[in-house]
Amino acid sequence: MSQEIKIFSPATVANVACGFDVLGFCLDSIGDEMVIRKTQNKGIKITKIEGYDLPYETEQNVAGVSALAMYNALNPDCGFEIEIYKKIKPGSGIGSSSASASGSVFGMNELLCKPLNKTQLTAFAMKGEFLASKAEHADNIAPGIFGGFTLVKSSNPLKVIVLPTPTDLYATLIHPQIEIKTSESRAILPMDVPLKNAILQWANVGSLVHALHTSDYELIKDALHDLVIEPHRKQLIPYFDTIKSDVLKAGALGCAISGSGPSIFALSKGQETALKVEKAMDKVYSKTDIKFQTYVSKINTEGIKILS
Ligand code: HSE
Repeated sequence: MSQEIKIFSPATVANVACGFDVLGFCLDSIGDEMVIRKTQNKGIKITKIEGYDLPYETEQNVAGVSALAMYNALNPDCGFEIEIYKKIKPGSGIGSSSASASGSVFGMNELLCKPLNKTQLTAFAMKGEFLASKAEHADNIAPGIFGGFTLVKSSNPLKVIVLPTPTDLYATLIHPQIEIKTSESRAILPMDVPLKNAILQWANVGSLVHALHTSDYELIKDALHDLVIEPHRKQLIPYFDTIKSDVLKAGALGCAISGSGPSIFALSKGQETALKVEKAMDKVYSKTDIKFQTYVSKINTEGIKILS
């Protein structure tokens, strides 16, 4: 039995415009690498973190907290060391904390010969997500663990539905190098939603789910609107309206805030359009002093994967 595993834990886009806290999809061009190692000494220890300055204390680190929750539940007769090679900037809006929280439990599960299924792993990873955002939402974790598009039907009991991924669908992202803490961008949201907006929003969620099932790109376009969250959060993201309007002109099916921001994502039919959309995003921020990165990614239907 293997004593050590190296994994790729991908970035993810939560909310997907209309599905706040329930919809998400998985990217393949950016993610963290992690090494999980079995040890004779019991307990969970974070032994290396590269890329970003994050806490080594197990209880303060999202990967440590999720690992510890799973470890305490299974009580295996070994311990684990975790190395984190962080590529996803914390506070970027593309599931940085959830990639770490999911990677540790996925790796431990593999080394223990898979006692847990993907839903159970998602539930433990949510404990890490709670540390980062003060909310146990699974809309980044589920697509990272299951791959593709996921719908979190309920958190308690946890029920995740994997949705089909139309083959020509590409994501383009721009990540302005400013940090927005998920907890803060949740705190500005109103507790009540006007009924007329709720009606439009649930019609959009239903339509998007149907469109993914039928590969109906026009319906995807019609459904990618967020009347509930975006109006409150977009002021946190410089030039959001300009980016959105320009990428729609460039041919994107839709454009919205990725998770809690500041990243913005667009979905397009075909790689050619996704690359045009990237250029349009690039053009807007190139005129400003804001540093940024862009990515074009096919939807990753595999999720977290073993590298060695
Ligand atoms: N659904 C979450 C939010 C995702 O938008 O606050 C961020 O982690």
